[in-house]
Amino acid sequence: SILIVDFGSQVTQLIARRIREAGVYCEVHPFQKAGEALERLAPKGIVLSGSPASTLDENAPEVDPVLLDAGVPILGICYGQQALVKALGGRVEGGHHREFGRSELTIRQHSALVDDVWELDHSYQVWMSHGDRVVEMPEGFEIVATSSGAPFAMIANEERRIWGVQFHPEVVHTPDGAKLYANFVRKICGCEGNWTMATFRDMAIERIREQVGDSRVICGLSGGVDSSVAAVLIHEAIGDQLTCIFVDHGLLRLGEAEQVVSMFREKYNIPLVHVDAENTFVAALEGESDPEIKRKTIGRLFIETFEAEAGKIGGADFLAQGTLYPDVIESVSFTGGPSVTIKSHHNVGGLPERMNMKLVEPLRELFKDEVRALGHELGLPEHFVGRHPFPGPGLAIRCPGGVSREKLDILRQADAIYLDEIRKAGLYDEIWQAFAVLLPVQTVGVMGDGRTYEFVCALRAVTSVDGMTADFYHYDMSFLGKTATRIINEVRGINRVVYDVTSKPPGTIEWE
Ligand code: XMP
Repeated sequence: SILIVDFGSQVTQLIARRIREAGVYCEVHPFQKAGEALERLAPKGIVLSGSPASTLDENAPEVDPVLLDAGVPILGICYGQQALVKALGGRVEGGHHREFGRSELTIRQHSALVDDVWELDHSYQVWMSHGDRVVEMPEGFEIVATSSGAPFAMIANEERRIWGVQFHPEVVHTPDGAKLYANFVRKICGCEGNWTMATFRDMAIERIREQVGDSRVICGLSGGVDSSVAAVLIHEAIGDQLTCIFVDHGLLRLGEAEQVVSMFREKYNIPLVHVDAENTFVAALEGESDPEIKRKTIGRLFIETFEAEAGKIGGADFLAQGTLYPDVIESVSFTGGPSVTIKSHHNVGGLPERMNMKLVEPLRELFKDEVRALGHELGLPEHFVGRHPFPGPGLAIRCPGGVSREKLDILRQADAIYLDEIRKAGLYDEIWQAFAVLLPVQTVGVMGDGRTYEFVCALRAVTSVDGMTADFYHYDMSFLGKTATRIINEVRGINRVVYDVTSKPPGTIEWE
């Protein structure tokens, strides 16, 4: 495995993804705990991440000396390079020459890191984002590549097997970056590249059996990919010691609840309790228009309903959750203060500790795309596994203002038509998330010879890598026109369609 030491860069998780794409298992740990992690993991190599900090600051995070003495190859990225240089006796200077964005890198000398990827005296595109830079290398280091703003853009001590790069090979704007990581972990560190979902599946099944023994496990299903994959995996491990509870809050998309129920019962034969709680949820949300109260109401009702059902089943020691790796990675914070709550997120996974059960979280080490791959491995249908993310509070937060069954039905129909058009146009996989929103606004229209006074439907589609930032999707106008016509013709209750062209920030993806 590979240890990634996190100094707080926004893109540290991307390093992990690139390494796993090369078939190698890796873990991210905050720099303060790197020593512990080193001991436990006994990695074959170490990557030091970037950071928003400057090595010139007082109290700048430092490279733990045990890492340098571990005797395994080290790769420092951006801040990681600078921290390495400082630790080994070189010098870093503040930015006279800041470099942000695309930059040209020229290879001046051969190095194992660029083997079969980059050629001597050729130039390649890389992504830079730095103010400080190395001005003096530690002893034993040589320059491998330069850029106009960074004379030490890539340096190496091949004998001690230490590399430092000023650019970010983990981002897509460094087109060959994935190959450099593959070189590092496979050729330099000698990792085998056998981390696949097939091996993960076997390993996870073993671990679940070991952890659970012959106890009973309860799993909350949301209809989403994560909890479904977790449930199918656990069922493979322990069979009918697992019971799933599907709290159907009536806020899912068209046909979704039925799909989940039939998939679990018929395809997988997994014991499933389907709780039809639509009335409870809709009644509680009717007339409530404050987004935060809506979110909290849904969260509270969900927990109450789930607990009541779990109580009926009784005798379970374990609660299964579809927690993913991004939720587990401890974040390195430099701001100190608490961050502002934009939205109170609700997930089926977020059940509080008060349930007094032990947790089974078989997806804790996986990224979203790996969960999808595992879903394929477990035979879940493609259209299910590849679905866009869907928020726990469901359509309630896509119905600004009070929610009613009538509005939810209108929204479901419009949403289904919109997604159908997207699939037909072959755009589904290009888009991170697409959905309809039903506005609490009625406008005047004319249909046939008559006046109409009906709701406005807003369409949203965004591209994103992780949901943290997003761009609105640039449709062809004719696509929007066609979709709007279909929605207005086919859905009673909507007479106007608009398209949301807000990116995130300043907007959020969902409207509430
Ligand atoms: P926002 O609207 O904050 O959404 O830009 C970012 C991503 O998170 C999803 N989202 C949620 N997911 N529970 C979830 O599981 C929630 O309460 C929740 N709220 C928003 C949203 O769909 C987008 O993918």
